[in-house]
Amino acid sequence: MREPDAAFADPRQAVLYDVFDDDRSDLDAYVAIVREVGARHVIDLGCGTGSLAVRLAGEGLVVVGVDPAAASLDVARSKPHADRVTWINGDATAVVGGASGADLVVMTGNVAQVFVEDEDWSDTLTAVHSALRPGGWFVFETRRPEVRAWESWDLRPTTVDLPDGRTAVVTRTVTTVDLPLVTFEGSTTLDGDILTSTSTLRFRAREEIERDLLAHGFTVRDVRDAPDRPGKEHVFLARADG
Ligand SMILES: C[S@@+](CC[C@H](N)C(=O)[O-])C[C@H]1O[C@@H](n2cnc3c(N)ncnc32)[C@H](O)[C@@H]1O
Repeated sequence: MREPDAAFADPRQAVLYDVFDDDRSDLDAYVAIVREVGARHVIDLGCGTGSLAVRLAGEGLVVVGVDPAAASLDVARSKPHADRVTWINGDATAVVGGASGADLVVMTGNVAQVFVEDEDWSDTLTAVHSALRPGGWFVFETRRPEVRAWESWDLRPTTVDLPDGRTAVVTRTVTTVDLPLVTFEGSTTLDGDILTSTSTLRFRAREEIERDLLAHGFTVRDVRDAPDRPGKEHVFLARADG
């Protein structure tokens, strides 16, 4: 699998993730889905700084948070209820063959788009299927390619006040659009240092994802809108065939 981007893997950038993305109302829909299907054992794949994982653990669920970026997991471990989460530093293949099958695997924050190579996406789908009990749920979101979200991603130098009183200057530039791949570079100037990160995301159409899920032993039960981003995302609810 590809190494996680510096934005998640560099300790100095990972601590800024929650500061720059502090509105997590996007997670409400996922908490509701977990309740809706009655899941008790949840794997948060690509959990990053663990906002959803700790929220679910706080509700008494059995939660495993998985991410290849150790620095993001360090941030997650500092949060309330983090001691109730099992944190695993790795990708989906690290949870295959766990003692008991999970009821639900979730990927929030468009984690599905980090899998650029067909092989990585396929290996992830295979591993998720293995980690679920028969009939278990795989729930994740991805941006709809036809919305062309990247066209509004460029960010001129913007000053951001940090909670600790420091200020950072943030920029973002989309460098390559070679569909289905979009590459962008972010930079954060903080304490005189310039912290950079380059990301490439893959935009998959709904039909492609449905086909891939089917090929990996899932039945697509629903494809929803993300309530906080109407018309922009697809939220897939798939079940692992027994
Ligand atoms: C945009 S963040 C989303 C984090 C979190 N799910 C959230 O909603 O805040 C994308 C995450 O995907 C993780 N990631 C990168 N490669 C991955 C892989 N192969 N398997 C699982 N997660 C991966 C990154 O480390 C990062 O934490």
